[in-house]
Amino acid sequence: MSSEFDFSILHQAARLAVMGHGTAEPNPMVGCILTNSDGDIVGEGFHEKCGEAHAELNALAKAGDDAQGSTAYITLEPCNHQGKTPPCSEALLKAGVARVVIGVRDPNEDASGGIDFLRRNSIEVEIANDEICAELIAPFAYKIKTGLPWVTCKWAQTKDGCIETPRNESKWISCEESQQLVHEERGCVDAIVVGVGTVVADNPTLTVRGAIKHRTPIRVVIDPALRTPLESKILNEDAPTLIVHAEGAETSEFSDYELLSLPRTNEVLDLAPLFRHLVTKYDATNVMVEGGTTLFQHIFKQNLANELWVFTAQNRSNMTPKINMNSLLTTLSTTRIEEEPSGVDTVERYLVNHCK
Ligand SMILES: NC(=O)c1ccc[n+]([C@@H]2O[C@H](COP(=O)([O-])OP(=O)(O)OC[C@H]3O[C@@H](n4cnc5c(N)ncnc54)[C@H](OP(=O)(O)O)[C@@H]3O)[C@@H](O)[C@H]2O)c1
Repeated sequence: MSSEFDFSILHQAARLAVMGHGTAEPNPMVGCILTNSDGDIVGEGFHEKCGEAHAELNALAKAGDDAQGSTAYITLEPCNHQGKTPPCSEALLKAGVARVVIGVRDPNEDASGGIDFLRRNSIEVEIANDEICAELIAPFAYKIKTGLPWVTCKWAQTKDGCIETPRNESKWISCEESQQLVHEERGCVDAIVVGVGTVVADNPTLTVRGAIKHRTPIRVVIDPALRTPLESKILNEDAPTLIVHAEGAETSEFSDYELLSLPRTNEVLDLAPLFRHLVTKYDATNVMVEGGTTLFQHIFKQNLANELWVFTAQNRSNMTPKINMNSLLTTLSTTRIEEEPSGVDTVERYLVNHCK
């Protein structure tokens, strides 16, 4: 049985793991902490970059000889296969680690088996089945299970659930701190998706600005009839763009752009093939959908949302939305996992329950 101390160190390792967000993917984010028999930390590390050392190797390198007889706290079962790097299970054995506490098992069959290997070699192993560690690898696990990326829907709304501002007012609903947070996340995801209504109304650039660009997300516009204005900023050369249209649409004006044709039922595009395409062509793990309401409605109905980030401006209200996001939210079964201030806004994070 894992103790309260075990869980607290595992959670510390989970906080380290998150530092790999944006560079570890498509690998999972993993953290590792080594403690000695007094419970003091002797080494720690996280998986910094896909293709480079795993968290365990980084922690073992920091600990040096102090790894002998230590307990290793690892958010994910150590790999047991020769991938881009050698098996971590063998490295733990070689370093003389005595006990291993694992957050969750590895859902990737090719890499799993670390637990059995360690036990066969007389290392004590405990599996904590920890929720925070499970949440860390949720996008990785979801992609293995479904072939789809983890889809985060993000929007900024007024208290009364409106995401559209009147024509004569600024299009920004959220404050600068919230916008900064979004740019930081954009710099970690593989794609940003919007509906053509947003492109026409706001002419967004959808690039990473004022934040570290760990990756350059591909911009995706859902545009069944190809009505994206050719002078739109989304078509500039700052980042790649994919235009998704309905089968049979007239594409000649867009021959210079990357296009994807999707089938349509009753005028509605089935969006799952788009997300599958983002995995097969770009190995996408995380995709952010940035609106507007019509697109969110389709994504929710088609059960494609995994996570929601809702920025609520506390100082704006009384707009009359076409579709009220507060009502739309109630069409999903969600669990609120975080609520905190973001400048003068609040930001809430929800997990959509079907993908738990
Ligand atoms: N506050 C925020 O966070 C935020 C974020 C984004 C946008 N907005 C606001 O939202 C407004 C735009 O929202 P909107 O609802 O009008 O437009 P939208 O959701 O951006 O785009 C809707 C259009 O995209 C196409 N579309 C999307 N998904 C589809 C599907 N599955 N099947 C078929 N067509 C699909 C349709 O194009 P066709 O009409 O060509 O068939 C549809 O009319 C703007 O005022 C913008 O400022 C606010």
